[in-house]
Amino acid sequence: MDFPIFHLDFFGDRLLIAVIAVLHVFINHGLAVGFLPIVTLMEYRGYRSKLAGLNEAEKWDNLAYKFMFFAFIVTTTIGALTGVGIWFSAALISPASIGSLIRVFFLVWFLEWIIFVLEVVFIMIYFLTWKKSNNNLKAKRNHVRTGLALGIFSWLTMAFIVGILGFMMNSGMWIENRSLISGFTNPLYIPQLAFRTPIAFVLAGSFAFLLTFIFLKEKSEFKNKVLKNISTWMFVWTPHVLAAGLYYHYMIPDLMKTNIPVAIATQQFQDWYSTLLYYLGATIIFSMIFTVWVAFKPFRVPKYAAVFPVIVILLTLGTFERVREFVRKPFVIEDYMYSNQLRLEDYGKYKTDGILKYATYTDVTEVTEDNKLIAGKNVFNITCSRCHTTQNVNSVVRKFEELLSPAGQPLDRKAMEDYIPVMDKGRYFMPPFPGNESEVDALVEYILYLQKSGDNLPGAQTTGINVSPLRQK
Ligand code: HEC
Repeated sequence: MDFPIFHLDFFGDRLLIAVIAVLHVFINHGLAVGFLPIVTLMEYRGYRSKLAGLNEAEKWDNLAYKFMFFAFIVTTTIGALTGVGIWFSAALISPASIGSLIRVFFLVWFLEWIIFVLEVVFIMIYFLTWKKSNNNLKAKRNHVRTGLALGIFSWLTMAFIVGILGFMMNSGMWIENRSLISGFTNPLYIPQLAFRTPIAFVLAGSFAFLLTFIFLKEKSEFKNKVLKNISTWMFVWTPHVLAAGLYYHYMIPDLMKTNIPVAIATQQFQDWYSTLLYYLGATIIFSMIFTVWVAFKPFRVPKYAAVFPVIVILLTLGTFERVREFVRKPFVIEDYMYSNQLRLEDYGKYKTDGILKYATYTDVTEVTEDNKLIAGKNVFNITCSRCHTTQNVNSVVRKFEELLSPAGQPLDRKAMEDYIPVMDKGRYFMPPFPGNESEVDALVEYILYLQKSGDNLPGAQTTGINVSPLRQK
């Protein structure tokens, strides 16, 4: 409420960040963090073969170059755009929380930026000097070293950001001492990094596997050797995913775990949760068997089978990201700020004075008999719109209908008025309602109006901003 409220009333705001972020993670983990070591190892293999005078040296080098060509194009375009896009979209939708994170992690952000720039510089050098490095063995050796440095910087960008992601889920000792170090070394930092690293390696392996079929069309001894190597790589890292996944799950605070079923499958399908867990277990076993099969019988693997591991691992990683984003609810920063952008410590004054009084961007500053509807709209905007739309994805009207009365039947005012002040009790993922009694009243009026009229709520990007009359003086 200290910022104009950007709102997408069709897909909902959460989905915008989710789509950009998940795409970014797929590319970052699958074609940078996990992939660069594979490319460098292949190039190194070519280098070693050349030293040994083997005639496959050039084949390794060529294939590694083609892999890198693909990774270079994708990471420097969609990868980089979505990376920046995460911060754009998150800053639009959740500006107060991004503001808090910048305050806490200013130095980390700055270092992250430097490392990112170095990563880009190294990727340029690595890719653009590749052909030239084939001129002599010394140049090749240095080129492999550049690949190694690139891989390390790529991993470091992830290692820095994960500190912030972990902090959002569990703020640890920071709540007490407010120090950067405590924030960064939060209890979920190491578990999350330990999980992301091997899953990046396995995902990258599945991409490499698929690309091998694309770049090497004909069956050959060399192709079999490549497939064998990649599947060994995947086989080695898959158990690490399982072990780190269990460790991570173990470290997630208990209260948050109660959110996991809804996170994975939504409220409607939360009973499928256990089925999904079996699915995840089965995936891991399946991928181990698959990689063993490929390692021993690479010539038997049909082309279409190569797509399968990519899809399965992408689904697993996507589920993980969804769960991570969801389980920290009702907080955006654990124990400090709720997902509605309001700080825990301010709730006391909001409850007595009302939120409208403290909002910078609102049409009205308190609820009166004449302004109920417009006040209710502002209350909805501030307290519900980060997670609900009016009529579409996670529609507030539909949610109330499902809870209180069959769709189409008018909602019961009294039941809604009773529900809102305790809405966080049964549903741990929703923040408590921050406002006072008259604001509950106004919100109910507005939701009843939404049900009757089917009206939508455009965001500030469409309607323009309204500065609170109290702030205009
Ligand atoms: C942090 C995000 C978030 C905020 C803020 C939020 N909600 Fe929700 N709400 C959810 C989610 C997620 C669901 C469950 C969606 C599903 O069905 O899986 C939900 C469900 C509901 C339900 C149905 C509950 C049930 O037991 O079935 C109602 C009613 C509701 N919200 C009303 C509101 C109102 C009113 C506000 C604002 C005062 C609000 N919510 C704010 C995320 C939020």
